[in-house]
Amino acid sequence: MRLDKFLCDCSDLTRSLAGKLIRQGEVVVDGIVVKQPAFHINEQSQVEFDGVLLTLSQGNRYFMLHKPEGYVCSNEDPDHATVFQLLDEPAMGKLHVVGRLDLDTTGLVLVTDDGQWSHRITSPRHECAKTYRVWLADPVHSDAISLFADGVFLRNETDKTRPAQLELLGECEARLTIHEGKYHQVKRMFASIGNKVVGLHREQIGTLALDETLAPGEYRELTAEEIALF
Ligand code: URA
Repeated sequence: MRLDKFLCDCSDLTRSLAGKLIRQGEVVVDGIVVKQPAFHINEQSQVEFDGVLLTLSQGNRYFMLHKPEGYVCSNEDPDHATVFQLLDEPAMGKLHVVGRLDLDTTGLVLVTDDGQWSHRITSPRHECAKTYRVWLADPVHSDAISLFADGVFLRNETDKTRPAQLELLGECEARLTIHEGKYHQVKRMFASIGNKVVGLHREQIGTLALDETLAPGEYRELTAEEIALF
C-alpha cells in the first residue's frame, strides 16, 4: 500500500495534504524519514507521524467492486488473476468476496471482512435478491417468464429453483432476479430452457446497485447507509 494512502486511512488528512507532509519529511518509516508519497509499505512497516505510531482502525471494512471479465473471486488462484489484485488495501488476507461471480461474469462484487454481514447476504434463509443482466445466444420466448416464476429443474438438482423474476429487454437480452445462489445458477436456468448465456453482468444485490461511476476494475468503500441495507 502507498504511504500517502496509509496516512490518509489512519487519519482525517486529505491525500494531497498527506503527500505534502510526507514530502516535507514529517513521516518516518521503520526509523527512516521517507519523502516519497508513493513509497510502498507493508503490514510490518512501522509508520510514525508527529511522533505517533500509526495503526489502521480496527473496524470492519466493506467495499463494492466492478468486476471485469477474466478475474476469479477467490483469494488465490494458480491460473487467473484474482479480484483482490484490483484492491489496494492492507491486510488483504482478512477480506473475502460476498457471493462469487464466474470468471467471465462482470459487475457488482462485495468484499468485506465482516462474516456476519456477508452471511446475511449469502445465506439461503435470507433470500437476498441478486439481479443480473443476461445476454443469450438465442431469442428468449416470453414463456420463460412464467417458467422461471414457477421454478425450473436444474441439471443434477432434485428441487426446483425458487421463483425468479424475468424481464425481457430485447430478443436476446433479459434481466433476471434470483433469490438464491446455486452454482452457475443463471447459466443453468437458461440451459434448462434450451438457451445459452453468452454474457452476464450483476447489476444489483438486494437494493444495492453497482455504482455507475465505477469503471470495470474500480472499487470504492460502501457508505454507512449501504452497509446498513443488509
Ligand atoms: N449465475 C451464473 O451462472 N454465474 C454467475 O457468475 C452468477 C450467477
